[in-house]
Amino acid sequence: MGIREISVGGYSALALSGLIAGGAFAWKYLEDYREGLVSEDLAKPESESYFNLHVLLMYWLYLLPNALGAISFRAFTFIERDTAKLLHALFNTIGFAASIAGFVIIYKHQGAAYGEYGHFYSPHTYIGMITLALYWFQWVAAVFLYFISWEKYLSSEDLMRMGKIKGAFIQSHRAIGYICFVLIAVSCFFGFMTNYYYGFTKGDPNHDMNSIMPYMNQSMVPMFAGMMLLLAVILNTKYVRPKPKEVYKPQETATLKSVSPTKDNASAPPTSEF
Ligand code: HEM
Repeated sequence: MGIREISVGGYSALALSGLIAGGAFAWKYLEDYREGLVSEDLAKPESESYFNLHVLLMYWLYLLPNALGAISFRAFTFIERDTAKLLHALFNTIGFAASIAGFVIIYKHQGAAYGEYGHFYSPHTYIGMITLALYWFQWVAAVFLYFISWEKYLSSEDLMRMGKIKGAFIQSHRAIGYICFVLIAVSCFFGFMTNYYYGFTKGDPNHDMNSIMPYMNQSMVPMFAGMMLLLAVILNTKYVRPKPKEVYKPQETATLKSVSPTKDNASAPPTSEF
């Protein structure tokens, strides 16, 4: 194991520990002051327990899988690139499903608990909407371009065009991926801030500054550190996964052979990889 693997592995582990520790302290607050998950309330959209499902889905099943997906190429070098790609897709599909469920739940909760005024009320909600729109676009585009076996459906010429589109989009896919992680992190951060703030407005005499500040510090400081560290791992160009020795796998070589070059496409680039 080289210095690169130790650094990427170490920073990734630290980042994930920060995110998990911060999330656990934030959850403790929800258990101690905001009902946690009371089973008989989970079917009542106006309840605190129902709201807490939004946190469960958005933090634990959206932010965390997205973070794992973001590091899967760089940190999991002990598995094949194709397996890392599958993991990347799996984690982001969990995030995709959880983000839809998290949105539906909070939309129903806001209406049931606060009436029409409850919708799209704070910076968290606007940043959250931008986050979801971009993330959903990214997921659909990635499935369309990189997970459908176009060889089965397209002619050689169209396959060539598709290869060019894939190659051109990969840089945007990376850039949008970085932005998505930042947006998800900021959305969650604002979400927790908004939720702590709302706690002070509920008239609970035990919910005072002295009691709540330790929860805020213990949750948001490690969470923030984890977010920054993870960003450092995914932005550092030195941590890119080393290129495999064999550039083309037999199956890709077969695909390339089946696309016989013509005068017009001879200079076209091959399909790109993640
Ligand atoms: C990427 C993660 C998240 C996204 C995309 C997101 C998205 C949203 C959206 C779109 C709404 C508005 C729903 C409506 O107005 O009908 C909302 C509301 C809310 N969310 Fe999140 N959320 C995320 C994570 C969190 C987390 C981790 C918390 C932590 C407690 C949280 C707390 C809240 C609160 C308190 C509201 C009500 C806000 C208000 O009254 O303005 N959210 N969220």
